[in-house]
Amino acid sequence: MATPRDRARRVQTRLEELALVSEEESVLTRTYGSAALRDALRLTASWAADAGLAVQFDAIGNLRARTRGNARQRLLLGSHLDTVRNAGRFDGALGVLVALDCIAARGPLRKAELELIGFCDEEGVRFHTTYLGSRAVAGTFDPGDLALRDAAGIALGEAIRANGGDPRQLDTCIVPRDGLLGYLEVHLEQGPVLEAAGEPLGIVSAIAGQTRIAVEFIGRAGHAGTTPMSMRRDALTAAAEFVLAAESSARMQSGIVATVGEIEVRSAASNVIPGRVALTVDVRSGQDAARRVAAGTLEHLARSIATRRSLQIEWRVVMETPAARCDPNLCAAFMRAVEAADGNPLPVPSGAGHDAAAFIAAGIPAAMLFVRCRAGVSHHPDEFVALEDIEAAIAVLDGVLREIA
Ligand code: GLV
Ligand code: MN
Ligand code: MN
Repeated sequence: MATPRDRARRVQTRLEELALVSEEESVLTRTYGSAALRDALRLTASWAADAGLAVQFDAIGNLRARTRGNARQRLLLGSHLDTVRNAGRFDGALGVLVALDCIAARGPLRKAELELIGFCDEEGVRFHTTYLGSRAVAGTFDPGDLALRDAAGIALGEAIRANGGDPRQLDTCIVPRDGLLGYLEVHLEQGPVLEAAGEPLGIVSAIAGQTRIAVEFIGRAGHAGTTPMSMRRDALTAAAEFVLAAESSARMQSGIVATVGEIEVRSAASNVIPGRVALTVDVRSGQDAARRVAAGTLEHLARSIATRRSLQIEWRVVMETPAARCDPNLCAAFMRAVEAADGNPLPVPSGAGHDAAAFIAAGIPAAMLFVRCRAGVSHHPDEFVALEDIEAAIAVLDGVLREIA
């Protein structure tokens, strides 16, 4: 029988193995539809099969692995296996592997069947719309999203096919509501609160809502040597002004964060005045009304900058997810399990998005356990969770499964 430390080490070893599965040399990147993501899903599927689970991939490409009994109730557990570019190794994969370990350890005295889900697109890196995998399972996938295109012009529908799925069969991903107890997710905190409090674990109270926007400033390309400064319609200087204005605007509104994370000069060359610049804006808040006001303010700023500089602008809201409050009963089960392990059940809000939010938005109870991360660093290769904290998370999830499933 594996000791708690052995189990944490197994999770750690698997995290290291998964970190080698990447679409880019020497950094970790696994975006939706990439061969690397499919390999990571398959590798995790092989571990789930070794643990005796019945494994399949659904029509959008999520890994689904179930215990083999016929209990009427079902509890979902999981997190995501896609990553941002140049990612850390814990974001998403930690929750999948801790859940797998706890499902495998639960044994036959279950009241409910346990289903592990390795979601295929939580980050939204490729199509700028997040929770594709979990929305398909929760039943809130918007078929309009099938027309979304990535930077190379490939439609989401095509990417689903390339991922081994079928965009016409997405309804088959939906989890039946009958007997569904809810969804549990373990995730690294991605912020500094637990470390500052000296606590290894926290219970997520709510997940911030987000708005993602695609913006394009359209000026006029021209010769860098011959066009006088007063006659230019430079899309990049407009974008630069907007990036700084967005930062100042978000700083002035409490509870708001706004980020320009991608910027691209179209047809760029060092001797050409930039004619078109595309950028992305990500706005988040725990308060939906405040987030909408902030997004509106940013749109107004962008349009005024474009007008003053005689540019055109395209402003397209690509996705919006509301703030999501975790289920009080499932949170209470996490709290009892933390207390039973002699811990202090600290409630923590999440500024990051999580697949749990897609379930909450669909009216399915969901709760999350946060695990301390070093210096609050995430979406960065230095992301780190200590072995003892993985062990603590396993003990708490074991406790919750014993109680509710
Ligand atoms: C995912 O990590 C997100 O919050 O964007
Ligand atoms: Mn994540
Ligand atoms: Mn992430």
